[in-house]
Amino acid sequence: MTVIVLEPVVDDTNDTNTQNENVDDEFVVPESNAFGHNFRDYEKDSIRKEIVQEFYRKNHIYQTFEFAKKKKEHYGKLDKTEMSIWECCELLNEYVDESDPDLDEPQIEHLLQTAEAIRRDYPDEDWLHLTALIHDLGKVLLHPAFGEEPQWCVVGDTFPLGCAFDESIVHHQFFKENPDSGNPAFNTKQGIYTENCGLDKVTMSWGHDEYMYLVAKGNNTTLPPAALFIIRFHSFYAMHRSGAYTFLMNDEDEEMLKWLQVFNKYDLYSKSKVRINQEQVKPYYLSLINKYFPEKLKW
Ligand SMILES: [Fe+2]
Ligand SMILES: [Fe+2]
Repeated sequence: MTVIVLEPVVDDTNDTNTQNENVDDEFVVPESNAFGHNFRDYEKDSIRKEIVQEFYRKNHIYQTFEFAKKKKEHYGKLDKTEMSIWECCELLNEYVDESDPDLDEPQIEHLLQTAEAIRRDYPDEDWLHLTALIHDLGKVLLHPAFGEEPQWCVVGDTFPLGCAFDESIVHHQFFKENPDSGNPAFNTKQGIYTENCGLDKVTMSWGHDEYMYLVAKGNNTTLPPAALFIIRFHSFYAMHRSGAYTFLMNDEDEEMLKWLQVFNKYDLYSKSKVRINQEQVKPYYLSLINKYFPEKLKW
């Protein structure tokens, strides 16, 4: 059985290995997810194991360079609809992420749990609170109004296309059937990229990360670059957890990676049965939305 061991990924003084029930204390990494299992344990014998495996089989076969490029062009036009951020959070309430072995709560719970946990430990970084609230909103691609895309091209871990698939990517075995694996232009370590070209130049597998990045950028947000980096690469676990693909990164990426690693701890470990009172926290998040996205968003 392969268990993905959870190690602190940054030198973070908030980290501790002991459980603490005092709610006034800083965020404590829990030992188990919403199902009582280790986090991101894809081998755990659970009802979700097969769903997750089938999800990655399709994802790894169909995500090709051409496919991702076309989706980016299509959705990058931002001509689907206009909607406020809060409306979008509510729309996501209907969905449960099939790729996630840790959570079966509606998405809005996950967004608020993540944002509130960060807010408690980093009270002055309001940009990071809003980043947490919106980081998964790209999952609206699942909704009929956005093309009702299948889960395999919306959620799950993301990875670069146009170069070889790193072995640290979850369920790597399924890439054998991806047509890009047989393409000599794409199947070498560096593929079509030059050394340290910067992640901005890389075509990632298509999903909610890239879509929400396009939405935030296309709507001229005043969020800082680190926020956009978090939104765009938060599912790129091979990079931010396993340390793969450093040859694609430049100095700026290395700097922003530090914030992504802070964020990831909360994105992953705040998934629990703790419920947030939505009405109570709503005014705070509406004020942040007004600050960083003054106009109604185009999607
Ligand atoms: Fe996500
Ligand atoms: Fe998330």
